[in-house]
Amino acid sequence: MPWNVRPTADLDEFRSAVGAIGHYFGGWPADEEAAQRFSSNLPLERMHAAFDGDRIVGGAGAFPFELTVPGGTVRCGGVTVVGVLPTHRRRGILTAMMRAQLEDIRERGEAIAALWASEEVIYRRYGYGLASLSCEMALPNGYAGLREPPDERATVRLVPLTESRDVFAAIFDRVRLRTPGMFGRTETWWETRNLPDPPERRQGGGEKNALVLELGGEPAGYALYRIHTKFEAGGAAGHVDVIEAVADGPVATRELWRVLLDMDWKATLKAYLLPIDHALVHQLSYPRRMQLRVGDGLWVRLVDVGAALSARTYAGDGPVVLELDDAFLPENAGRWRIAAGTAERTDDEADLALGVEELGSVYLGGFGFGDLVRAGVVRELQDGGAARADAVFRTDAPKPWCPEIF
Ligand SMILES: CC(C)(COP(=O)(O)OP(=O)(O)OC[C@H]1O[C@@H](n2cnc3c(N)ncnc32)[C@H](O)[C@@H]1OP(=O)(O)O)[C@@H](O)C(=O)NCCC(=O)NCCS
Repeated sequence: MPWNVRPTADLDEFRSAVGAIGHYFGGWPADEEAAQRFSSNLPLERMHAAFDGDRIVGGAGAFPFELTVPGGTVRCGGVTVVGVLPTHRRRGILTAMMRAQLEDIRERGEAIAALWASEEVIYRRYGYGLASLSCEMALPNGYAGLREPPDERATVRLVPLTESRDVFAAIFDRVRLRTPGMFGRTETWWETRNLPDPPERRQGGGEKNALVLELGGEPAGYALYRIHTKFEAGGAAGHVDVIEAVADGPVATRELWRVLLDMDWKATLKAYLLPIDHALVHQLSYPRRMQLRVGDGLWVRLVDVGAALSARTYAGDGPVVLELDDAFLPENAGRWRIAAGTAERTDDEADLALGVEELGSVYLGGFGFGDLVRAGVVRELQDGGAARADAVFRTDAPKPWCPEIF
């Protein structure tokens, strides 16, 4: 059955379309005000609704993001709130929504799309590739030592959430512009998503705290954290949750984390959404005790392959030629030659054959072609093809990091 999918036209439609995934969250958005607040970051026309007759049974949204890629930024559809009501699952509605959404993203001139997957099995079929890894840590209190002594220029102050936005945003922007995988935040985004602290989101913890680290009086890092206090058998058994910690440079990173690591009355320091190459691994005396758990992070889809490949920078001039398969958006398929920072169609012989999802995996620098050849998911057509391609795509940027699920 061909489903009718189109952007929402008013707040009622928007609320119903968002409500498809909201159903699984227990009935969100609860009221018009909550829908209005969500739409302050997601314009109505960026929310697609799937209809069964005149009833909305599915929804898929895309935030208008600016995403950092190696050497610059690129406009990106930040795919979010994808859901189909339980009454209509497994009838092709997600596929219909993904098609309409990717066409829309392309028409808007966004060369790529990115998302966090609720289940990692869902999105490869639509051309998304695993582009970054994301880590959680749970460090027991006795092992929170750092190798280096404190830097005497470092000072820390707690700030009210309501006064933290501008100083946080300035630090965040410096870091995000050099870190692939991070997206820009508007003032509204900070005010509606990062800083609010509604009691129903505290999950038994205390209030959300904000602190700023300064080096020589200049703001260089910030952290948002929540304390979960608990005592058992006369000792601290609770934990501190680091919601977000962003620091500009190695000393700022170490001194910011020192404050979190040193916090009293906790048995464990927990942190989420950390990059795989986090500096703490090298800064802690007991890195094994971080108990790092690694999972999938951002998934990336090249929507307009020529524009996306030409939007990032490269370490080598190339050329390298890729034979690309893209079953869901066949207009991207064919042979692409990347030379001197530009991607063009070509009839030259290809070095490698791969699917568009594998190109999504290497695009931000999270993985190399060699990794994917060794995994058997990219095929080398010429000897040394993967090594040549890796020499071109190599980047000195940090590993891709997206510190926030959207
Ligand atoms: C995930 C969800 C959106 C899928 O919607 P749907 O309309 O049932 O999906 P479709 O019928 O279009 O399925 C498309 C394909 O994906 C597969 N698929 C979809 N969801 C899947 C899942 N969770 N696990 C395994 N396969 C899945 C289908 O089997 C189908 O495969 P096929 O093309 O080989 O036949 C829906 O089940 C849902 O809303 N789940 C809860 C919310 C959620 O997880 N949203 C995703 C947020 S990132």
